[in-house]
Amino acid sequence: MTRSNVAARLKGIRPSGIRRLFSLAQTMPDAINLGIGEPDFTPSDHVLEEAKKALDEGKTHYAPTSGIPELREALAKKARADYGLSYDPDDEILVTVGGTQAIFLALLSLINPSDEVLIPNPGFVCYEPTILMADGVPVSVPTLEQNGFKVDKSLVMSQITDKSRVVIINSPHNPTGSVLSYDDLSGLAKLAVGRDLVVISDEVYEKITYDGTRHHCLAAFNGMRERTLVIGSFSKTYAMTGFRVGYAYGPRELISSLALAHQFSVACVDGIAQYAALAALEGPQDFVKEMVSEFDRRRRLLCARLNDIEGFKCGLPKGAFYIFANIKAFDVASEKFAEHLLSSGRVVTVPGSSFGRYGEGYLRFSYATAYNKIVEALDRIERAVKGFRRL
Ligand SMILES: Cc1ncc(COP(=O)(O)O)c(C=O)c1O
Repeated sequence: MTRSNVAARLKGIRPSGIRRLFSLAQTMPDAINLGIGEPDFTPSDHVLEEAKKALDEGKTHYAPTSGIPELREALAKKARADYGLSYDPDDEILVTVGGTQAIFLALLSLINPSDEVLIPNPGFVCYEPTILMADGVPVSVPTLEQNGFKVDKSLVMSQITDKSRVVIINSPHNPTGSVLSYDDLSGLAKLAVGRDLVVISDEVYEKITYDGTRHHCLAAFNGMRERTLVIGSFSKTYAMTGFRVGYAYGPRELISSLALAHQFSVACVDGIAQYAALAALEGPQDFVKEMVSEFDRRRRLLCARLNDIEGFKCGLPKGAFYIFANIKAFDVASEKFAEHLLSSGRVVTVPGSSFGRYGEGYLRFSYATAYNKIVEALDRIERAVKGFRRL
């Protein structure tokens, strides 16, 4: 077997830059990980109990392709309660293997060869490779610091061609923590309707916002329900990353295509995980509130302390659990800088360039790590940066 046996669609795809630094960090047991993209919380007891109960009750068989009916019903109820949106649990909701698979299925269902897909840059690391795997063409829309890292309607407009078919919107945003306001989304909705674009709205951080910032679902805007696929997940809201349960809401014609690709690729989502997800959705929600309030405390600490270290510059993000700090004053590639923080400070961060070329000049810090560890990491970073200046 040689590399020439590998299909062309995979040849241009490189592993995520995040993984490389994480592997390096694994050789350093005392490293503090501020690179991580998942809550450090354990799911609520009632969620874990439900998973055990499902196992004890022998729910170990294939689950229905689209997801267990009880979970789809609960998701329909959620869409109504949270956003006033009505989706038929029978054929407008699909339970997927995390938000990641929902994105994959969406792109596979929507893209013909050489169709263009507009994506935020910097943006979540899955978008570009997934578009390439679907034989589409990723087109970057810069999410710039001077615009509060928000995707700007005029920048989207400037990238639209007659091959544009889909646009991916992600709010709250990974890696910058920006949150699109009602007006931002309303402008993007008008644009999508006017240019006949389908929107994949990645809302996996919907419940993680701060300072009273409200998340709005894009499908709830005028003319959007019929052209939007909403992606959600239990990973971030309920700290259930390992359970791998996500979902997609959308018009039935689109959901049926996703379900087809889902059936012939994974058959169904693990049933036990789906019962746990159902318990998370239907049980008390104080877990989410408490987790977000702890994230908030860490967010303030991390942002304030970073701004105190000469060379770093960052604003207080309104959502998710990341700070995207400007490191341009150090005049070094973000990957080199992250490597330095790891080798000299034993702190893992993610170079901004991992999220696309407009991420160069920034580092992503996650605060999904315990408060005291963040304190220690900042002390280490402060020392490592002094060492860096002497190099
Ligand atoms: C913006 C965004 N979308 C989707 C996902 C996928 O998460 P999961 O597959 O665990 O639901 C992530 C994970 O980091 C993310 O940051």
